[in-house]
Amino acid sequence: MSFTIPELCPSRLNRCELAVPGSSPKFFEKAAKSDADAIFLDLEDAVAPSDKEQARKNIIEALNDIDWGDKVISVRINGLDTHYMYRDVIDLVEKGGERLDLIMIPKVGTASDIYALDMLTTQVENAVGRKKKIGFELIIETALGMQNIHEIAAASKRNESLHFGVADYAASTKARTTSIGGPNPLYGVLTDPAEDGSRDYHWGDMWHYAIARMVVAARANGLRAIDGPFGDFSDPDGYIAHGNRAAILGCEGKWAIHPSQIPLANEIFTPAEKEIIKARRILEAMEKAQAEGSGAVALDGGLIDIASIKQAEALVQQAEIIEARAAK
Ligand code: GLV
Ligand code: MG
Repeated sequence: MSFTIPELCPSRLNRCELAVPGSSPKFFEKAAKSDADAIFLDLEDAVAPSDKEQARKNIIEALNDIDWGDKVISVRINGLDTHYMYRDVIDLVEKGGERLDLIMIPKVGTASDIYALDMLTTQVENAVGRKKKIGFELIIETALGMQNIHEIAAASKRNESLHFGVADYAASTKARTTSIGGPNPLYGVLTDPAEDGSRDYHWGDMWHYAIARMVVAARANGLRAIDGPFGDFSDPDGYIAHGNRAAILGCEGKWAIHPSQIPLANEIFTPAEKEIIKARRILEAMEKAQAEGSGAVALDGGLIDIASIKQAEALVQQAEIIEARAAK
């Protein structure tokens, strides 16, 4: 193990993060009652320029008036290249109250973007005497952001999570996409001919590199990695396949751009019962070996290494947080 151990950000359930446009207050109450772990109220791309000011007011009112229960509440502000952003931050932090947990920052390009926002947030927080420090969720969705992702992830103690914004990322990199977050049938490989001359075509995952890179940058800095949108909400199978792929790579949640995607994300990112049982057995075997003074931990005829013990601990911890939430 390195002498450098990443400091972990505050632990929050983030299996499903529901996107709700700030210009549609009629959806707020429903979102508050939904099963999403986290909600982001949007001031950015889901809101037309002519609606930005009203959306900001709607959100501030909702932060103060709606009972959001134990949900993680975030607001996606406008980008640093717009003239809306400074007012978003000032009004949210001055008037949003203590219920605002996180600010979501879109299209982060450099570590200095985060530095600038940290400075502004800190000033306003101190001025109004906020008790709770606001955390940052950062969307990686440009070529510049992906290039600088490691410095960005380390840029502030407020950072809690990195999110893959596949739609803007595709636009920024000029990737050829057919649907938001979905596959492109032309991204694949053809196998060599078999004896009978037949060949198979295997579809590839064109987002693999981006998500894997984001997971590394997040985990190396103690942050959560969250997969972004899957646009076709009439395709639950597609959502499940892409969510599972992200979970397998290390993401701990995914966005829902429609309420129908909430149960899908919760299912994907809740550890399966049999995995939890296995993880608990690993920890029991470890405790037994320690009590017996044995250096090696064995289970079901095989040796268990330190990495499997750590994974088991993380999984059990996650399962306990989910169980505690379900019991409320
Ligand atoms: C999200 O903001 C995206 O661009 O996919
Ligand atoms: Mg975007």
